[in-house]
Amino acid sequence: MNVSLSSTDLGWRLIGSIDDIPQQGARCVLSGETTIAVFRTADDRVFALEDRCPHKNGPLSQGIVHDGCVTCPLHNWVISLSTGAAEGADEGRTATYPVRLEGRDIYLQLHPGA
Ligand code: FES
Repeated sequence: MNVSLSSTDLGWRLIGSIDDIPQQGARCVLSGETTIAVFRTADDRVFALEDRCPHKNGPLSQGIVHDGCVTCPLHNWVISLSTGAAEGADEGRTATYPVRLEGRDIYLQLHPGA
């Protein structure tokens, strides 16, 4: 699922099916210059975060998904999928995006409040 979205798109956008994302994996969506990682947990919840670790911009989409978090592949910071915040003693936060499931379809909101 590599979807490219125009920066002029507002509101909720259908970006694909949950079946396009492996359990405990992620797929990326491009929005202008921003890459958004859409994660699927082992219990089929979905979350969307900017694909940029708050530590040194590691690609979170390539991390390990576990317990509502993703572990960055570069230096193992653990990032909450729901808040984008670094867990434990680490400090920092990556941007999150509203995402929802309708059946198997995933909708992403690029501009909350639009
Ligand atoms: S860049 Fe993610 S832990 Fe360092």
